[in-house]
Amino acid sequence: MRLENKVAIVTGASSGIGRNVALLFAKEGAKVVAAARSLDKLETLENEVKEGGYPGEIYSVPTDISKDEDLKNLVDSALSKYNTIDVLVNNAGILDQYKSLENIDEDLWMKVFDVNVHSIMKLSKLVLPTMIKNKKGSIINTASVGGLHGMRGGLAYVTSKHAVVGMTKNIAYTYADDGIRTNAIAPGSVSTNIASSISDPDNKTLEKLMAGVKIFPKFAQPDQLSPAYLFLASDESSFVNGEVLVVDGGWTAY
Ligand SMILES: NC(=O)c1ccc[n+]([C@@H]2O[C@H](COP(=O)([O-])OP(=O)(O)OC[C@H]3O[C@@H](n4cnc5c(N)ncnc54)[C@H](O)[C@@H]3O)[C@@H](O)[C@H]2O)c1
Repeated sequence: MRLENKVAIVTGASSGIGRNVALLFAKEGAKVVAAARSLDKLETLENEVKEGGYPGEIYSVPTDISKDEDLKNLVDSALSKYNTIDVLVNNAGILDQYKSLENIDEDLWMKVFDVNVHSIMKLSKLVLPTMIKNKKGSIINTASVGGLHGMRGGLAYVTSKHAVVGMTKNIAYTYADDGIRTNAIAPGSVSTNIASSISDPDNKTLEKLMAGVKIFPKFAQPDQLSPAYLFLASDESSFVNGEVLVVDGGWTAY
C-alpha cells in the first residue's frame, strides 16, 4: 500500500505501459484517474480493478491529450472527484513512422510534438497549482532511450523525447522548493501496441536502427516497467528529483 489514498492521473492508461502502471498503482491503494481516448478500454480497466478487489480504484476520464479542452476536463474531473492530485504520470506517446529528415512532413512533426511534448507541458501546468498548494507532488514523464541517444527512432520521435528529458529537468529544479519532484523514465524496447501505429516506415531510418538492434538484449514486458513508476510516485523516492531512470535491460550500457 505504498500509494494509499494518493490520487494519480495516468495518461495513455488504456494499453501498454500506462495500463500496467494504472493497475499497479491501484494495487498499491491509489485512486487512479485513468486518461485515454477509448472509454471502452478504460471501462475494461476499471472493471478489472473492481472485480480483482484491488484496494485502490480507477476513475475513467476519456481524454485526447492533444486537445486543450480535454486536458482541462481531465484535471477538473480529478479535482471535483477527489479534491487533490498527488501524482501525474505523463505517459501517452506516439511514434513517428521512423521518418528521417528528408521524409518528415510538418503535419507528422506537429502531431508527434502535440502528443509527446506539448501535452506534458500543458497538463503539468494545469496540475501545478494543486501541487504547489499541497507543497508536494510527483510528476513522472515517460521519455525513452530515444531521449538520450540519437538513433532509437525517427527524427521527430527522438527530438520529442529529448525535449521531454529537458522539460523534466527544468521543471524539477524550478519547483524543487515547492516540494514537487519531476522525473522521467526512459524505457528501452517494451512489448506494447506502440509499433502498430507504423504504416509507412522510412527505410533509411530502419537501416540505421538495425545496427543498434543487434546489441539489444530483449523486449521488456510492461510489468517490468511499472515498478519504476511506483518508486518515483511513492515517498520512497523523496530525494529523487530531475532524474532520468533508464529501464532498458542494459541496452544503453553497451
Ligand atoms: N514500447 C516501447 O518500446 C517504448 C520505448 C520507449 C518509450 N516508450 C514510451 O512509452 C509510452 C507508452 O507507450 P507504450 O509503449 O505503452 O505504447 P501503447 O501504444 O501501448 O500506449 C500508448 C498509449 O498512449 C495513448 N495515446 C496516444 N495518443 C493519445 C492521445 N492523443 N490522447 C490520449 N492518449 C493517447 C494510446 O491510446 C495508448 O494508451 C510512450 O510515451 C512511448 O513513447 C515506449
